[in-house]
Amino acid sequence: MAYNILISDPLSEDGIYPLRQAEGFNIVVDTDLTPEQLGERIGEFDALLVRSQTQVTREIIEKGTNLKIIGRAGVGVDNIDLTAATERGIIVVNAPDGNTNSAAEHTIAMLMSLARNIPQAFHALKNQKWDRKSFIGVEVKNKTLGVVGLGRIGAEVAARAKGQRMNVIAYDPFLTPEKAEKLGVQFGTIEDVIKAADFITVHTPLLKETRHIINKEAFEKMKDGVQIVNCARGGIIDEDALYDAIVSGKVAGAALDVFEEEPFVDHRLLTLPQVIATPHLGASTVEAQEIVAIDVSHDVVSFLKDGVVKNPVNLSSVPKDVLAKIEPYFNLVEKLGSFLSDLTDGVPEEVNITYSGELSNIDVRPLSRNAVKGLLKSKLGESINDVNAKFHADRIGIIVNELKTTKAKGFTSLITVEVKTASATRKVAGTLLNGLGPRILRVDDFIVDVVPEGHLLFIRHKDQPGAIGRVGTLLAGEGVNIATMQVGRSEVGGDAIMMLSIDKHVEESGIEQLKQLEDISDATTIDL
Ligand code: NAD
Ligand code: MLT
Repeated sequence: MAYNILISDPLSEDGIYPLRQAEGFNIVVDTDLTPEQLGERIGEFDALLVRSQTQVTREIIEKGTNLKIIGRAGVGVDNIDLTAATERGIIVVNAPDGNTNSAAEHTIAMLMSLARNIPQAFHALKNQKWDRKSFIGVEVKNKTLGVVGLGRIGAEVAARAKGQRMNVIAYDPFLTPEKAEKLGVQFGTIEDVIKAADFITVHTPLLKETRHIINKEAFEKMKDGVQIVNCARGGIIDEDALYDAIVSGKVAGAALDVFEEEPFVDHRLLTLPQVIATPHLGASTVEAQEIVAIDVSHDVVSFLKDGVVKNPVNLSSVPKDVLAKIEPYFNLVEKLGSFLSDLTDGVPEEVNITYSGELSNIDVRPLSRNAVKGLLKSKLGESINDVNAKFHADRIGIIVNELKTTKAKGFTSLITVEVKTASATRKVAGTLLNGLGPRILRVDDFIVDVVPEGHLLFIRHKDQPGAIGRVGTLLAGEGVNIATMQVGRSEVGGDAIMMLSIDKHVEESGIEQLKQLEDISDATTIDL
C-alpha cells in the first residue's frame, strides 16, 4: 500500500527521516501553497504535516477526502479545525514536548531582554548612537513573576525564573496548593497573580476561555510599571488593551513572540519603543525542530501502517502498559458492537458496556470506543472510526455507559454490551479464550459459544420437535451450508435459540421465509 504525504510548512529535513525511510511513502514538500492551491491538492494525500502557518480549516479538511491523519509539528493546534477533523474521522497528532525547552528558553531570553532594553540598545548602536542614558533597565532578582498557565512550558519558565532569584506566583485551573508547593511556586487565582506580579508571562493554549484573558480589566488591576511577556499564543492578550495600557504608562513594556494575526510586517504595537518582538521564534531551534518533526513523522508512519499513535490530540492517549492489556480485546469488542447492530431494530438510545474481571481495573475507554464503532459502522458505514465514533454517538443522542465489576463468572475478563432502543433491550457478552481467541458466550439470556466472525444466523423459536429440521431444510433449499449450530433453551418446550455459523449471507427473502416457519418467532443474519 502506498501513502501520499504532504508537508506544507517548513519542517526539519533531519526530523522527517522516519517518513523518508518508510517503505511506500511518497513525500511531497510544498511550503508555498496558497489556501486555494492547498484545497485543490489536498484530496491526493493520506497525511498532512504542518507547523503553525498552514491553516487547516474545515474547508481544507472537507476537500481532503483521502486524509487520515494530520500531524502538527509543535504543540498548539489552534490552526487546525479539530471539530471538523474529528467529524471526518481524521486523527490529529502533535509533538507536545519536543519544543518545551526551546520555548521556555526563548521566554527567559525575552524577559531578560525586556528588563534590560537589550534590543532597543542594540538597535541604537547599530544606528551609530552610543546612548547609555535611555536604556536603564531593572533587575529581575527579588521581583515577582506571575505565570498564567503552569503546564510544560510555564513550569520550565517558573523553574528558570527561580534560578534568577525571582519569586514566582502562578495560576492554572489544574494547579493545586500541594502541586504549587512541590514546584516551589506560590499558588494564586488569576486575580492574585496579576495583582502581585512585576512581570507577567502567559503559557496557556489559545482557547475560548483564554482568549483575551489578559484584557483591559486585567491591566487595570496590575501594578503600575508591570512588564508583559507572551511567548504562547497571540490572542491570549488583548492587543488593543495592551497598546492602550502601554501608551497610558500602566504597562512599562512588553515582549511578544506571538500575535493575534500572523504573519504580519506592519503592527501598531511595534511602533511603541517599549515593545520588543520576535516573529514566532519560540520553537525555532535546531534541536526543537528536529525533535518535533521526528515525533510527528513517527506517529504518521505508525498510524498509517499499524493504526497506533503516541500523541493523539482528538483521542485520549493510552499508556503503553494499558495498551498492552486492552489491545487483544479491540477486535472482540468491535464485533460485539457489530453483532448488536445487526440484532437490534431501531435507533440505539443507550449502550451499557460492562467490563468484568481483570479489565475492571484499567482504563477501558478505547475499548468502549471500539464497541460504539462496531455498533455504528454497520449502520453509518465505513467512515466511522475510533476518532469519530463518540462524536457520532453524541450527535445521535446515544448515551454510552461504562460499567465495571470484578466478578467475571470464572473468566479472566468478560465484556457485556447491552443496547437499548425504544422497543427492546438486547445484549451480548464475549471473552478471549486462552489459546482459542475471541468468543461470544451469551446472547440475551442464552449461553452460546461462537467465534465472532463470518456469517451467523440467530434464530428464536419454540423448543419443539422438528423446528431445527425445518430450518436446516429451508437453508439447504437456499443453498446455504451450515458450518456449526448450537441450540439453547430456557426450559423444556419454552423459548429457545439457534445460533448457526453459515458459509454465506442469507438474503432478506430467505430470512422472511425462516420467520414464516412453524415455531420460529424471529431470525436475524449477522455479518461480522
Ligand atoms: P501545556 O498544555 O503543557 O500547558 C498549558 C497549561 O495551560 C495547562 O497546564 C493548562 O491547565 C493551562 N490552562 C488551560 N486553561 C487555562 C486558563 N484558563 N487559565 C490558566 N491556565 C490555563 O502547553 P505547553 O506545551 O506548556 O504550551 C503552552 C503554550 O505555548 C501553548 O499555547 C503553545 O501553543 C505555546 N507554544 C508556543 C511556542 C512558540 O513558538 N512561541 C512554542 C511552543 C508552545
Ligand atoms: C507550537 O505551538 O509548538 C509553536 O507555536 C511552535 C511552532 O509551531 O513554531
